[in-house]
Amino acid sequence: MKQSEFKKRRKKLMQTIGYGNIAIIASADMRIRNRDVHYPFRQDSDFYYLTGFNEADALAVFIPGRAQGEYILFCREFDPKKALWEGAHAGLDGAVKKYEADDAFPIDDLDDILPGMLENKGKVYYPMGRNSDLDHNLLIWLNDIRGQSRSGITAPNELVSLEHILHEMRLIKTDAEVQLLRKAAEVSAQGHLKIMQQVRAGHFEYQVEADLVHTFMQNGLRAVAYPSIVAGGKNACVLHYTENKDRLKSGDLLLVDAGAECDHYAADITRTFPVSGRFSEAQRELYQLVLDAQLAALDRIKPGLAWNLAHDAAVEVITKGLVKLGLLKGRVPTLIKNEKYKEFFMHRIGHWLGMDVHDVGAYKIENEWRLLQAGMVLTVEPGLYIPEDCKQVDAKWRGIGIRIEDDVLVTADGYEVLTHGVPKTIADIERVMQAA
Ligand code: GLY
Ligand code: MN
Ligand code: MN
Repeated sequence: MKQSEFKKRRKKLMQTIGYGNIAIIASADMRIRNRDVHYPFRQDSDFYYLTGFNEADALAVFIPGRAQGEYILFCREFDPKKALWEGAHAGLDGAVKKYEADDAFPIDDLDDILPGMLENKGKVYYPMGRNSDLDHNLLIWLNDIRGQSRSGITAPNELVSLEHILHEMRLIKTDAEVQLLRKAAEVSAQGHLKIMQQVRAGHFEYQVEADLVHTFMQNGLRAVAYPSIVAGGKNACVLHYTENKDRLKSGDLLLVDAGAECDHYAADITRTFPVSGRFSEAQRELYQLVLDAQLAALDRIKPGLAWNLAHDAAVEVITKGLVKLGLLKGRVPTLIKNEKYKEFFMHRIGHWLGMDVHDVGAYKIENEWRLLQAGMVLTVEPGLYIPEDCKQVDAKWRGIGIRIEDDVLVTADGYEVLTHGVPKTIADIERVMQAA
């Protein structure tokens, strides 16, 4: 992502918060995995969205109209010893030259410098509740300023959620963001296609995971957007199964939900396919039902249509289909009204997708489902999960879990499936698997 893109975002934020106010946002922390070992660092998405700065121990401040510079970055000072042990870091010089901060200060001096920046400001835009140390310090700084009122200094009188503004910005993707989402989607699709071709009965689920990650990394995407779900047979009925430890059996389906991250933008794909390369009759019927539900949902993706219509379309197809196959009994409208489908389709049709896999942005505005707009990106992922111990359905359906998930960009006149590179019809899946 070019610096100019981050700059545009900062400009828009400053215009929204307005002169006389201030916004503050902190980086993510390094997290300890065990003793001296850390989890791989992942920057806070909001912080990265505004700064492109990929280090811990940093904090960005935005003060529209400040004469000495509107964008201030607090970060670690350059330390040659740290550079030797841990690698490159920008330092104050880099913060200004490379990351285009107007001013940079050592993060260790935050306590001395930031309170002065809060003086005489009106509103403080701040993501409350994400960093308890900083929450605590902010309240102390504000109280200290209040104590100086006799010297004519006024303290900010409003703490406002920064997320609301920022998340509305993040919800509508720019062309530069779509490019990264597209790359994440394409590489992830390649990974899914590869495992469809390579999988064999007897492989372990974690070996399939290794093959996926291999494709992601060979194509330049080192991080996964979330822990991969590789679930053979009944494991697919556990929605967030990530143990990935069992051996794959011929005759079972394999559900794989995995996506790579490209410069902090996620892909999120699920495919379900037969380990042996051919669907059984029961698997085929349920699979086709999930696919029909997905296609019906996709048909409801268009600017101006409400977000919930895709979900409702999928619910209708699934409920009708379950009645037809004998898994539900009763009248379709009553079953829908009483949400009986939830026994087998218990999640919603999808979510916003972006820097976070479950991305930010409100789904309702003033208590009404919001209307889709060009530039939104979302997943469409209906599923059916028939628990192994579900006594009220015929034994042939039990232990089958199916989800089909694509990443979809809302365009000016409809939608574009970013993850089209991986087959999903029964015929295409069987053809790809049998040709391998
Ligand atoms: N991979 C998480 C989800 O599909 O929402
Ligand atoms: Mn998803
Ligand atoms: Mn998923």
